[in-house]
Amino acid sequence: MGIELDLSGRTAIVTGAGRGIGERIATHVAAAGADVILAARTKSEIEATAEDVEAEGVSALAVPTDLGDPDDIDRLVEATVGTFGAPEILINNAAANLENDPMEQSIDEVDTMLDVNLRGVFVLSQRVANAMLDGDVDAGRIVNVASVAGHVGIPAMTVYSGTKAGLYGITRGLAAELSSHGITVNSVSPGMIRVDRIEQLMAEKGDLYDLDRIPVGRLGDPEEIADACVFLASDRAGYVSGEDLRVDGGVAITAGLYR
Ligand SMILES: NC(=O)c1ccc[n+]([C@@H]2O[C@H](COP(=O)([O-])OP(=O)(O)OC[C@H]3O[C@@H](n4cnc5c(N)ncnc54)[C@H](OP(=O)(O)O)[C@@H]3O)[C@@H](O)[C@H]2O)c1
Repeated sequence: MGIELDLSGRTAIVTGAGRGIGERIATHVAAAGADVILAARTKSEIEATAEDVEAEGVSALAVPTDLGDPDDIDRLVEATVGTFGAPEILINNAAANLENDPMEQSIDEVDTMLDVNLRGVFVLSQRVANAMLDGDVDAGRIVNVASVAGHVGIPAMTVYSGTKAGLYGITRGLAAELSSHGITVNSVSPGMIRVDRIEQLMAEKGDLYDLDRIPVGRLGDPEEIADACVFLASDRAGYVSGEDLRVDGGVAITAGLYR
């Protein structure tokens, strides 16, 4: 018998669900049977994803949210619990990645990355975990989308890398706090994934990535990150907690010495 990843009867919050990897996570979670709450700042984008989610035969709720604003986070959790009850699944996918020269970044730019990628993820996880505990949910799941940039140094990503490395600390800390209450907490670390933002960068700077240095020899697809998130959100991952699953074509384990 193959591995079946069934999320039917569950409710999942997916942040950054308007485009890129988050859009694909939302539709994969929906295809596995869960109702989905979609959060990001751009209303039109999360509403478009909500239509794709509903096409899978489940319910969707688009809640415009700035994860840098704790009041918005509270509104997101209230809207979720008010509509669906306590959610079983939280996928913290949204992140701010300002790829300008780290030596030139302003305090505001540094704060944006810290506020969204660390404070936002922690505060939302804290609020959702409390709702899970109050709602006595079965098999709570928190999945954080980190990055290979949290494992290795990448030019122009210093602060972003720091937030993603910090996310491993939050993942392990929450896993230690919450696993005994039936809530697992894990992360997925994408490598270079073919989303519109990356396609645009590649069109502008043709030699952006040396694909020969990715052991698997290609960029990843958003589906490959979504599949990992659905697995970690499922019952089949009930004995995995505090772990980071790299989905990066092997790039983080190379020293970049050989072609
Ligand atoms: N693509 C890659 O190669 C790659 C590699 C490693 C890790 N990752 C990680 O994968 C995740 C998704 O990346 P992606 O490439 O799909 O990014 P993307 O295409 O830029 O999408 C980012 C999503 O996050 C949302 N977002 C950004 N700031 C937000 C805020 N303050 N509040 C709420 N939502 C916010 C965006 O919506 P709004 O702008 O409308 O708010 C958008 O929906 C991120 O955690 C990223 O660090 C991606």
